[in-house]
Amino acid sequence: MTFIIAIDGPAAAGKGTLSRRIAETYGFHHLDTGLTYRATAKALLDAALPLDDEAVAEAMAFKVDLAGLDRSVLAAHEIGEAASKIAVMPAVRRALVEAQKAFSGRIPGTVLDGRDIGTVVCPQAQVKLFVTASPEVRARRRFDEMTGHGVPADYLAVLADIIKRDERDMGRADSPLRPAEDAHLIDTSEMGIEAAFSAAKSVIDAAL
Ligand code: C5P
Repeated sequence: MTFIIAIDGPAAAGKGTLSRRIAETYGFHHLDTGLTYRATAKALLDAALPLDDEAVAEAMAFKVDLAGLDRSVLAAHEIGEAASKIAVMPAVRRALVEAQKAFSGRIPGTVLDGRDIGTVVCPQAQVKLFVTASPEVRARRRFDEMTGHGVPADYLAVLADIIKRDERDMGRADSPLRPAEDAHLIDTSEMGIEAAFSAAKSVIDAAL
């Protein structure tokens, strides 16, 4: 049997950094499931296909290659927006969740991060973490990251985007963002990555 670590939470809460660090520390395979939604959205945008046709989006979702996912190619803001639009479609979710479930069985262990890992994709995960932070802190981090890369940004616009994305992710009928009942909550509002990592590590070590 494999060991599964499920990490969920809203956009820009620090899940990505934490998940990569955990996967490296334990020598586990890592899947950032947001990239599967982003890759589907990018393929639709590139082919100038509509974002509101569920059958077309589902067909694209089946073509996503988990081995070819690269955040640097999928980071654009428009791709994130388009991803959260197609992520409300049950047929798209079914296709991507199937691929994510298959990935989660890899030996010796896996770390999957997203919105519905502990609740839908891997409810059997041995460790479930829910990583969150206030919208203001998340917006500040996203803003700093963008300006740090020389991308012009407006803090209030970034904050408005984060709030809109939260509403869409938490408000959808199929697999809304919420902590699993048995998830450990890690609030990174006033915590650096080191503190968040050591909180996660003690939960994982206790379950191993
Ligand atoms: O995490 P990231 O911002 O890359 O995710 C992009 C979008 O994909 C999210 O806003 C969310 O709507 C969707 N998503 C999802 N379920 C996941 C991961 C991402 O619905 N497990």
